[in-house]
This record gives sequence, C-alpha cells and structure tokens, in this order.
Amino acid sequence: MSGSLRAVDIIRRKRDGGTLSPEEIRFFLERYTVGELPDYQASALLMAVFVRGLSDDELGPWTQAMLHSGVVVDFGDIPGAKVDKHSTGGVGDKISLPLAPAVAACGVRVPMISGRGLGHTGGTLDKLESIPGFRVDLSMDAFRSAIAELGIALIGQTAEICPADKKLYALRDATSTVESIPLIASSIMSKKLAEGIDALVLDVKHGSGAFMKDLSRATALARAMVAIGESAGKRVSAVLTDMGQPLGEKIGNALEVEETLDVLRGAGPADVVLLTVELGAEMLLLGEAVRSRDEGRARIRDVLQNGRALEVFRACVVRQGGRPDALERLPRARHSHVVRAPRSGFVRAIDTESVGVAAMLLGAGRATKEDPIDPSAGIVLACRLGDHLEAGQPMATLCFNDVARAASAEARFLSAYTLGDERAASPPLVTMRIVSKGVDSAA
Ligand code: URA
Repeated sequence: MSGSLRAVDIIRRKRDGGTLSPEEIRFFLERYTVGELPDYQASALLMAVFVRGLSDDELGPWTQAMLHSGVVVDFGDIPGAKVDKHSTGGVGDKISLPLAPAVAACGVRVPMISGRGLGHTGGTLDKLESIPGFRVDLSMDAFRSAIAELGIALIGQTAEICPADKKLYALRDATSTVESIPLIASSIMSKKLAEGIDALVLDVKHGSGAFMKDLSRATALARAMVAIGESAGKRVSAVLTDMGQPLGEKIGNALEVEETLDVLRGAGPADVVLLTVELGAEMLLLGEAVRSRDEGRARIRDVLQNGRALEVFRACVVRQGGRPDALERLPRARHSHVVRAPRSGFVRAIDTESVGVAAMLLGAGRATKEDPIDPSAGIVLACRLGDHLEAGQPMATLCFNDVARAASAEARFLSAYTLGDERAASPPLVTMRIVSKGVDSAA
C-alpha cells in the first residue's frame, strides 16, 4: 500500500484541512528521517500542520512515528515503576535536581533524559555540568545499569533517540513552525516515551517566564500531551504551574545547584520546596508507591529532611563522574554587583523572561545553541512579587566573570520589574492538574 503513497498528496491533504491516515503519517516521517524525502517537502508539511493542526486521531500516530524513528529504551527486565518528569521550562527552574533523587530515595526509579538551556530558559544538563566532573553523556548500558543499581540517572539526549525530532526541530526553527501545539506536544512526548518509562509527570508552565505565556495555550498543550501519553498506554499527569516570577532565589547553573543542595538539606526557598514536594508526590502516585498525594507529599518531605535524597544525589554525582567532594567545589564567579531599587514601592509585576535574559547576558545561558556557558554566572534575587522595597534597597546580586557584561544585564534586569504603590496579589504556584485515564485525580 505504501508503494502508492506520495509525499505531495499528503502535503495537499493536510494543506486543504483533511485528516492524514496513520499509514500516511508513518510513510512521510519514516522516509523523511532516512533522507528519502527532501527538507522542502517536510517544510511544506510542517507549515500545513502549523496552520491546520493535527486531530487527536493524527497526533497519536504522528508521535508514534517520531518515537519509533530511533531506539526505544526497554527497562522491562528492571523491576518497579520507572517515572520521569518534564518541565516546559522557565527561569530558575532547577526542580529536576532535587526532585529526581527525592523520588528515587522513595523507591521509584527515575530515568531522566534532559535538555540544554536556550534563550531565557535554563537547562538541566547545563546545571549538572556545572558540578566538576559530572558527565551527562552516559552510554545506554551505563544509563541502564545506573537505573537498575541506583534508581536514578540524569543524562542528555542521545543520537539514537528520536532522530526524526532532531531533524524536524531544526527545520521548524528555520521555517517559523515551532509555536504549534501539536508539533510541540509530539516533539516532547516522543522523546519522553522513548525513555522506556511507565508514567510521566509534566510541569507545564504559564506566565511571563514560560514558553507558553498564556494559561489557555498552556492548558491546551497539557491536554495534548496527556492525550498522547494516554494513547500510548502510559499514566500521565500534567501540573500547570505559575512562571510569573522566577522559581527560588538563584538563577544560573552552579547557583541553582547550590540552591538544590539547600533543598536537599531540608531548607531552601519555599516555592522550590513546594514544587518539589507536589511533583514528587505526583510521581510517587503514578509510580504506585503511595495511595494518595498526601502520603506522597509526606514521603518526599521526609527524604528531604532526613538526608536520604541528598545521599542519592551524591551517589548519582559520583556515579556520573563527579569527585566525592564535587558538590563542595562548585565554581564561583569572580565579580558581583548589587542591583538597587530605583524607587520605593511594592513589586507589582515581573517580566520573568527579561530576568532570564539578564542571567543569559551575564553568561549563564546561550542566545544560540553554539554559545558557551559560564557555569558560575547568574543572579541571586533579594525580592519577590508583593514585597515592599525602599529606594536603594538591594533587589538582587549579579554574579559574573566578564565585567563587560554587567551593565547591559543590570539594565535588562531593572526593566523587568514594575514597582508601584499598591501591593499585588501573588498567584498560587500550582494552578491546576490534568490527568490521564487511570490516574485518580482526587487521591
Ligand atoms: N521542547 C521540545 O522538546 N520540542 C518543542 O517543540 C518545543 C520545546
């Protein structure tokens, strides 16, 4: 049958608002991945999908075709549930770092394949690589044995996983077709499903520092990803969370590892602890290690307080190449500069994306994929939404090595803050939860 399929007919059908069959989707994505279809035809199909969307009946086969373009990890011989978390990204979002060892310390295995930061958002891999010696490029065998023996491994995307996504993402970048909910949902979920997990918790962010700023679009993305997971037979929960201000007090790679250590020692900022506990409880529930979210919350709080999660994190660092004292030898920036409030008033609004850009300008992030990162650069915040500041009071400390970067970063940071005479209410961190069939929303 696939002998009679032609790329041009598939493009036309999508262009005209029709529905593609699973066979047509498979044909197109398989042929494109192996180089039998040219970029110009894939670009045309991506634009047609961008404009017309994908129905639920198309989204599952589209994701499956991407997923099966490469290796799908099989953890079938390793007992117990394997559960991961994915965040759509934000500013100061270091939650994976305390979360993964906390969940592993509670007995649920966490095979986590993460990405790098780009633009205003940070990436888990860059944060981990600020730990001296830490390697994120484990072989598949080393990844599997870490999951079997320690219950946790934190690695980067490998060439074998979802090659279709690698090609399509580069094309989307060049054809202005990135901001499409079905294309984003299938891109994220194909990579997550390739990890061989039983269940997945999605942290879908909305607000000024999120990829999807608007709550209704973030909700649509969450629903699409949950539907894909459900059609693949996985337990999935999406937790919608506010990114209307940075998470925690520290932004920047080594600084975020420092804050992680605070959380793993039973302290740390309240919002980082709260989100670690919420997402951890959800992972334990999906991994069937607890019967209710409250039981899950109590278990996660326990391992943060009693040092078990920190022990697992230390073991993970050593297993992935860090020296035993690596966490005591995090890089520190040579220079710092205190940013002061230009007037008295309440912090009424924060353009969180600009705070992320300010950290990037200091060297903590990259404007293009090829840019180098300064692991020690970043920002330590001294105020949150709703706080009152006197004129001249510290708002933040900028940390950097390259003195030439400080002035533009300070200007960008200050431009992000709106100070006013009335206190603004802070929105709740957790907005809502969307769960797949088989996950008890009331537990
Ligand atoms: N992250 C992904 O992995 N894919 C997208 O399309 C967007 C964000």
